[in-house]
Amino acid sequence: MELITNVSEYEQLAKQKLPKMIYDYYASGAEDQWTLKENREAFSRILFLPRILLDVSCIDMSTSILGYRISMPIMIAPTALHKMAHPEGELATARAAATAETIMTLSSWSSCSIEEVNSAGSGISFFQFSIYKDRNLVQQLIQSAEKAGHKAIVLTVDAPWLGRREADVKNRFTLPQNVVLKTFEGLDQGKTDKMNGSGLVAYVASQIDRSFSWKDIKGLQTVTSLPVLVKGIITAEDARIAIECGAAGIIMSNHGGRQLDYLPATISCLEEVVREANGRVPVFIDSGFRRGTDVFKTWPWELREYLLVGRCCSPSPSTARPA
Ligand code: LAC
Repeated sequence: MELITNVSEYEQLAKQKLPKMIYDYYASGAEDQWTLKENREAFSRILFLPRILLDVSCIDMSTSILGYRISMPIMIAPTALHKMAHPEGELATARAAATAETIMTLSSWSSCSIEEVNSAGSGISFFQFSIYKDRNLVQQLIQSAEKAGHKAIVLTVDAPWLGRREADVKNRFTLPQNVVLKTFEGLDQGKTDKMNGSGLVAYVASQIDRSFSWKDIKGLQTVTSLPVLVKGIITAEDARIAIECGAAGIIMSNHGGRQLDYLPATISCLEEVVREANGRVPVFIDSGFRRGTDVFKTWPWELREYLLVGRCCSPSPSTARPA
């Protein structure tokens, strides 16, 4: 078999191997998929102007996230339903994160239980969830996440309604028979109904609280002692409010282009959000990242005084600048 050398090749392979309905669910963006495409294109407009003949014999990419040491400034963002791609599902992802000495954020739409994933490896993990109408359920979820040893709560705030992914609508996306939302098992929330359109859209519409707003973020801190990271911010204004409401970190995300279409790429908004945070809380970013060079492009040297985490042992590092 030909060696796989990068993440994009996995995408091609997934397209060949997975049933169309599953591949389309993982791969699709919302509506015209403009943001999905822009998430990649924005990276190709940022070029490096490297300085040369600097001593790069000592490279240490390790960094600290909320006090936990990780081997590199790359973590695993929450994504749903890994068992649709592989029978081991999130267990395998958790093992990979532990081996790579980084942090995995487990999606509340996991197809393995919180406890199973926790026993899979000794890695540090965070737990993602959205606000359900049933606040008892939210409390139970947070408590199981805390009990299982997750170190932070990641609250998704950009999906009060699921994005309209037209491929899912056409495929009448629904969970395969052998896959359930395991996190909710026993809580009677684990099923999605087969209906016209996408079953997940119907599930989100019936379960997720669309009235949730900033004041509720403060309330969350009374039900958990874990740090709460707010995921789905792309503007400095929202970053400021999130910090005022007590967020322990900002996760910049446009949901991989899967929610509201025609948002800019997150990388294009990074500078203003990092300046606003000004080192008060860590800023994380996802959407469109495929390579190490994409990660390096998050570190324009001009922003160094605003950065909370990350180091470079070279005295004058390469600079990422817009082309
Ligand atoms: C999605 C949800 C699960 O993007 O976040 O499908």
